[in-house]
Amino acid sequence: ANSPLEIVPVAGRIGAEIRGVALSGDLDDLTIAAIKQALGRHKVIFFRAQTHLDDETHEAFASRLGEPLAHPTVPVAEGSRFLLELNSREGEAASQWHTDITFLPAFPAASILRALVIPPAGGDTLWANAVTAYDGLPPALKALVHELRAVHTNAYDYATARPEASADAIRRHREVFASTVYETEHPVVHVHPVTGEKALLLGNFVKSFVGLNREDSNRVFQILQDQITKPENTVRWRWQPGDVAIWDNRATQHRAIADFGKQKRHLRRATIAGSVPVALAG
Ligand code: SIN
Repeated sequence: ANSPLEIVPVAGRIGAEIRGVALSGDLDDLTIAAIKQALGRHKVIFFRAQTHLDDETHEAFASRLGEPLAHPTVPVAEGSRFLLELNSREGEAASQWHTDITFLPAFPAASILRALVIPPAGGDTLWANAVTAYDGLPPALKALVHELRAVHTNAYDYATARPEASADAIRRHREVFASTVYETEHPVVHVHPVTGEKALLLGNFVKSFVGLNREDSNRVFQILQDQITKPENTVRWRWQPGDVAIWDNRATQHRAIADFGKQKRHLRRATIAGSVPVALAG
């Protein structure tokens, strides 16, 4: 389709850089529509050198993409209305593959992440395409996932996912991220409300599958996560301060790479509200 944007794919199946746009709340409707269309097509889109953005203009731009959603348990970043703070000096980062906030019945449609401080090397982010992952499943596994529902909770990821985490760190994480526990059931395959594509809906908030015991849940989860995150389905972004990444949270998973030691890494994220996922008919 014709787009007024200059769009340069970054990897074969997911990710494109968009050039020549200064993000702002004042962009014209055609440009906003083209950005949304590029997002549906490429799943994650990148904008370099958006150093003119501050919290207020980041929020103003985000509000053009949809209804902003503050994180349900984490206090908003200081001085902002609804941004999430991702500020690390201790090497900790969201380094497990996940889709944002899937423990809510209506999980987010999109996220808009802005880099403020990035280590000279390290701290990249990976995204995976959950649509090509679904498409690539063999028929027998498609039949399985069509039947499956998963239980997503914020009490699971942060409490158990990091084998290296100390008991103290787990307790502190739990206090912040799971001060209120959410648990919700989603279909494992859902139909994207905008693109109509089928996508796998999993990630690190999945505790178990309905009707499977913990052991079988873990095995099935691993098979499906391996499919989603295999390198062919991914793109990796080397951040520069001022970069913005926008991802379609209904069609992707992502993770940070925690390889930057005690260097400072600081980003802020806006999140756009979504809807309750729709399972395949029949
Ligand atoms: C996130 O999970 O939203 C942040 C990813 C990152 O810090 O790279």
